[in-house]
Amino acid sequence: MADEDLQGLDEPGLRAEWQRLADRVAAANLAYHQADAPDISDADYDALKRRLAAIEARLPDLAALGPSAQIGAPPSETFAKVRHAQRMLSLENAFTGEDVADFIARVRGFLNLAEAAPLVLTAEPKIDGLSLSLRYEAGRLVLAATRGDGETGENVTANARTIADIPQTLAGAPAVLEVRGEVYMGHADFAALNERQTAAGDKTFANPRNAAAGSLRQLDAAVTAARPLRFFAYSWGEMSTPLGPTQTAAVARLAELGFKVNPLMRRCEGLEALLAAWREIEQGRATLGYDIDGVVYKVDDLALQDRLGFRSTTPRWAIAHKFPAELAWTRLLGIDIQVGRTGALSPVARLQPVTVGGVVVSNATLHNEDYIAGRDAKGSPIRDGKDIRVGDWVQVYRAGDVIPKVADVDLAQRPPEAVAFTFPRLCPECGSEAVREEGDAVRRCTGGLICPAQAIEQLRHFVSRGAFDIEGLGVKQIEMFFADDQLPVKEPADIFTLAARDAASLTRLRNRDGFGEKSAANLFQAIEDRRTIPFARLLFGLGIRHMGEVAAQDVARHFATWAALVESLDHARPAALAHRAADAAEDAERMAAAAEARRPRIAEARRAAMTAAQVTPAAQAAWDDLVGTDGVGPVLALSLSDSFANPQERGAIDRLMAHLTVLPPEARAKVSPVAGKTVVFTGTLERMTRAEAKARAEAMGAKVAGSVSARTDLVVAGPGAGSKAREAEKLGIEILDEDAWLRLIGA
Ligand code: IVH
Repeated sequence: MADEDLQGLDEPGLRAEWQRLADRVAAANLAYHQADAPDISDADYDALKRRLAAIEARLPDLAALGPSAQIGAPPSETFAKVRHAQRMLSLENAFTGEDVADFIARVRGFLNLAEAAPLVLTAEPKIDGLSLSLRYEAGRLVLAATRGDGETGENVTANARTIADIPQTLAGAPAVLEVRGEVYMGHADFAALNERQTAAGDKTFANPRNAAAGSLRQLDAAVTAARPLRFFAYSWGEMSTPLGPTQTAAVARLAELGFKVNPLMRRCEGLEALLAAWREIEQGRATLGYDIDGVVYKVDDLALQDRLGFRSTTPRWAIAHKFPAELAWTRLLGIDIQVGRTGALSPVARLQPVTVGGVVVSNATLHNEDYIAGRDAKGSPIRDGKDIRVGDWVQVYRAGDVIPKVADVDLAQRPPEAVAFTFPRLCPECGSEAVREEGDAVRRCTGGLICPAQAIEQLRHFVSRGAFDIEGLGVKQIEMFFADDQLPVKEPADIFTLAARDAASLTRLRNRDGFGEKSAANLFQAIEDRRTIPFARLLFGLGIRHMGEVAAQDVARHFATWAALVESLDHARPAALAHRAADAAEDAERMAAAAEARRPRIAEARRAAMTAAQVTPAAQAAWDDLVGTDGVGPVLALSLSDSFANPQERGAIDRLMAHLTVLPPEARAKVSPVAGKTVVFTGTLERMTRAEAKARAEAMGAKVAGSVSARTDLVVAGPGAGSKAREAEKLGIEILDEDAWLRLIGA
């Protein structure tokens, strides 16, 4: 198929040849993308496209008509989003043998297993790559999706099809089967890829994980195909029939179906066996040929896994026991203070660049002022009380994705001129006082939104992907508008008045640097489109401390409407304050007890503080409801309450809300007789622990509350139920015993 022969063709001949080529390319695309069966080699495909391009260079009108206009070029700027049929979760981490022992004790406690009852777990390497979910229907691969935020990932099907370890078809598989595992790149392949990249003048990758991620998320599947990606299957999502009764059996079945599974996986009984497996896997780490960053332990019996269930983002039946982090020594060149969205002053170490575990590190966190001074939050010495000074020789620690941190200091190498670091008392960004509240390790700027660092960080967060995600309003534009005299944007509400202010202004945005008629109009339209916003995105976008995307979804689901959330927060405020006072009383009691060398009487201290605060039952119920919300604990509840009670923040929220319509959250698709009902457990449960009962009820879509109120739908009362059952009777609420409850939920 040399292109020279085109020279001999006249125009009709060229057009006929172009049509023939275009048809051939279209057929090859179909075969590749839809029929799982590429019918020509990559080299031949490229030759076809080159030949098409050669004709189009001579007859340019053809270019817009055929496949050149569609393929090769990215189909879109991003991948299509896909909602996972079952959420893709992450794992809790353990760093020490004690953490693992605690994990086992928690599992046993949750399941109420007798001490002598055996508990089998599996141990397998934790592959340092990126997780991928593969959906097979009737034995054919129909969808491959990245994890994304766990609920929604990206559709990378065309790319996944190019990975040799991923079967396109399965024989004898369940009708619906989602196989999950890790995409990774081996060491040798990684080194060769970087060499090719260097030779081609392209950017190289810092480590195999980045290379794997960059290769899988290529808009052109042909690029992915040229990258040597591999895949280990270790888990599953939705399935029409279970793969087996145990983790071991299910993984063996995946291997039979044609997946690569990790050969180092083994069954272990008891803590010692798990730790021995961990040591052995760690010792073999250097010769594996691919990166692993720990060992994952999973309860083997899938019926027990089912009972254990999930917390908001991690399963209760598994844990990742990480390998010790990688360490390196280098010089501390300076300490900078960064001001975050919440006003926190964070010290950042500027380091003489050093390679730690294959990545060049030049910045690392120093946590907070106590950490630099060599104290923990309680004032006890850390690093034997050694402080950290500019000029010191320091040890840098890095583990996987964790932000590098300064771990230790070598006093023998301290230069004589080094002086102790004085943590600033004023915000370096706005000059406002920076204060530390009692019990808080962090010093915070009190400037609020007058502090440009905080205001800009808030705005950046507000327009970020998981929040308002306004196209055309990225970090750069936010910084520009923030400093702009004509069209300033100082707080989120200002974004929604931009268009009106622009229309009234003489120097219109469309005539400014970086903007034209179209881009200005597009920006205003993108803002307009976000006046209607899902509840969870709004909540996440407000940038409340401790409010992550998952928690925002949980809170949105629980309260369903904005008004209900606000009303509840306002009601709960006195209880929130009482709760904080009780925390302080508890701390004071702990310290007093330590000084007097006696046991602290924490419960009494709390009770006294709560009594003194005279919280009304309604406020207490609102607080209990908030703290009891799935995914919310006292820390987030307090932070949420503080934000809404702070006049400045509340003002900014109210000003914003005047521009918005809030979309109620989608209910989790759960069909169960208790979905959406509020349940209270009281008395002794005999068939399972309280924790398991609560988790099961929540997994069926119920809300579990701690106290009975008019909003309670159902009370499950075991023996010894007292005031709560009486209260329920008084209110005419349905009361079930444990067996009736289990029948109701079909357990
Ligand atoms: S099990 C329900 N097993 O680690 C949780 N995960 O830090 C299912 N990973 O998102 C995960 N090797 O991407 C599991 N052998 C292994 C793994 C593994 C690597 C990744 C996975 C997960 C992340 C959590």
